[in-house]
Amino acid sequence: MNAPSDIAKVIASQPDATLGYRDFSLGGFKFTRDEYFAHITWTTRDGRPLSHTMDIGNFLRALMRDVAWGFFYGGVNFDHVFGTTNHYSTVDMYAGTYNATMKAAGVDRLENFPTAQIAATFSEMLDDWTNESFDPFSAPQETGSPYGRKNGHSRAKITRARELATRCVGLKGDLNLRSDERGAPVNRAFADVPQDQPELYPEPGFENEVHAFNLFAFLSRSQVTWNPSFTSVVKYSFMCPTTEEHILPIIHANDRVEWFFQMTDEIHWDCADKTTGKPLARVIMKAGDMAAMPAYCRHQGYSPKRSMLLVWENGSPNLVYEIQKGDAPEVPVKF
Ligand code: PHB
Ligand code: FE
Repeated sequence: MNAPSDIAKVIASQPDATLGYRDFSLGGFKFTRDEYFAHITWTTRDGRPLSHTMDIGNFLRALMRDVAWGFFYGGVNFDHVFGTTNHYSTVDMYAGTYNATMKAAGVDRLENFPTAQIAATFSEMLDDWTNESFDPFSAPQETGSPYGRKNGHSRAKITRARELATRCVGLKGDLNLRSDERGAPVNRAFADVPQDQPELYPEPGFENEVHAFNLFAFLSRSQVTWNPSFTSVVKYSFMCPTTEEHILPIIHANDRVEWFFQMTDEIHWDCADKTTGKPLARVIMKAGDMAAMPAYCRHQGYSPKRSMLLVWENGSPNLVYEIQKGDAPEVPVKF
């Protein structure tokens, strides 16, 4: 058994003399960045060297989510080749495993790591490769370029605390409402969203039990995109609203049913089989629409304008195993 400090050891080169970036290794995978791209190389199942290339902006946006969300629920595909699967104490990292063509050709690779080990490597890579000009959580129109040679760092942006309410936003001692003073001005796209708060008249003694807040006002002040926060938590029912603009930087492979409520504007979703990548559906969601993503799908959303989306998660730690055993369904309803 490795000591925790050994597990979290990051294997990295010295900075490149010209570009300034370090190379990283994890198991049989190697990661390098240049001015425009992330390059991932591995030895295939049948023993051959193979490489994969991603636009560095897309790679860093996906890496940011994987790191910030602790590898999320189920699969985080960076694109149609590379990604991670969360097993909640270990994480698989793979290339080609969930791409039917690469899998059939035998050129895929999958390795499992203790969560602390992959988290340490991914965090350092994110830190080393993200320049001062770039915020991976921002909409493309609201941040600078990820490209070029190493130039400073973006540590304040990439280490934002996740906004997770324990019970509900605005309750005493819980996650605060957003305000100008707290550094959360109204976004340019939501200038017309009313900022008033509901009137509350709880009976004496129930001030910390009876509660309401203006969710649209809260979301209008989100500084980031595609980053669900927990606004209310009831047992394992997590309300995770978020503001979306441009493309969800990952293709999420569910390990449970997940609900979407499109609260404003619209998002177009591509849905596919999570194992093979075979396309399953296009879902065009307009304000007021609800959809459930089955546990067998992967999905990626496109939001032409900044929009408000409520993601509803069942956070039960047992659910994924109940689904695997056939004790819980992969779909919310059977017709
Ligand atoms: C999802 O994968 O379901 C997801 C992730 C982040 C979002 C919205 C949806 O902001
Ligand atoms: Fe999802």
